[in-house]
Amino acid sequence: MTERELTAFFEDLHRHPELALKEERTTAKVKEALAGAGIEIHACGMETGLIAIVRGSRPGRVIGLRADMDALPVQEETGLPYASCVAGVMHACGHDFHTSCMLGAALELKAREKELCGTVKIVFQPGEEISAGGQIAARQKILQDCQEFYAAHSYPGFPAGTLGIKPGPVMAAPDAFTIRIRGKGAHAGNPHLGVDPIPAAAALVMSAQSIVSRTKDAFEPAVLSFTHLQAGSTWNVVPEEALIEGTLRTLNMNLRKDMQQRLNAMTDLTARAYGCEAQIEWMIGPDPVINDASLCDQAAEIAKGLGLTVARQDNTMGGEDFSEYLKICPGAFIRVGTGGGFPNHHPQFTADEGALAPAAHFFAELALQRACADR
Ligand code: NI
Repeated sequence: MTERELTAFFEDLHRHPELALKEERTTAKVKEALAGAGIEIHACGMETGLIAIVRGSRPGRVIGLRADMDALPVQEETGLPYASCVAGVMHACGHDFHTSCMLGAALELKAREKELCGTVKIVFQPGEEISAGGQIAARQKILQDCQEFYAAHSYPGFPAGTLGIKPGPVMAAPDAFTIRIRGKGAHAGNPHLGVDPIPAAAALVMSAQSIVSRTKDAFEPAVLSFTHLQAGSTWNVVPEEALIEGTLRTLNMNLRKDMQQRLNAMTDLTARAYGCEAQIEWMIGPDPVINDASLCDQAAEIAKGLGLTVARQDNTMGGEDFSEYLKICPGAFIRVGTGGGFPNHHPQFTADEGALAPAAHFFAELALQRACADR
């Protein structure tokens, strides 16, 4: 595929975004391009997505590459000539870029299979935005012999030609929770005849921030956000129940568990202090993404050798299910500078097409060199 064809492929995906686990057209397009080059294709455990395998001509190591494929429920406002033609759906996180990038890498690896030792397995993963696809794809038997795993993610903070490579934690564990505080309804003029859940909910929202500010090491990042608070429906009735939703973001597994337990305890004890009962339900997200230090160093050397600029990416408290693959083997989540000036998930997010071909070439070269490395 020429650079122009790869760009056209990206624009086509951008025009036709598909939501999580509905990436049917995207999967068909990727399959068509891979099959056209004679690349081996396997299922990834879901109706959409796939795993492509390029086998080298000599024995070597097994390297995994991963692209995600899904779009977001966002109405595009970029004004691009290839803007989304699906109302309310947009590739606002650059997963069209990742898919095109890893397709380009797969095709290059196939074209260079005589040079390749070992095997490269390229995962085109559905359902990243809802943290559903990673755990299914990463449990596929066919991936369990991977020795290193790499992913690409678009990054508006760097221009095209710059990669963000950083050892250690780079993305947070995004856990979500729902709290229900039950009291007893009453006439608002006679609150003593009921049990009001609203003061309990308000007290919990205020006091829970002390878990962040008072109970953990100041050098360990954590975010506790309450994002949904709801109780009652009118002015003269004490409601039965208050509902609170929110998210806890951590980079450290021990801290994650500790903060969950502290929020559980604070929820229970605060509710009881106000005569209410509380239930907290956790939706446990993927683990934090923790990049391997020595693989980051080697990836950075390869990038510099190709004339790319390497910068230290910032951590983010966003989540990523790429951590599922890092349960198989070490790896690195690499940021690809795509410029544009608007953050991921913004209706005006754009990815600089000039970043695409160099990124595809970098991941092909990275996989090739790491598959042929001694270790
Ligand atoms: Ni994303």
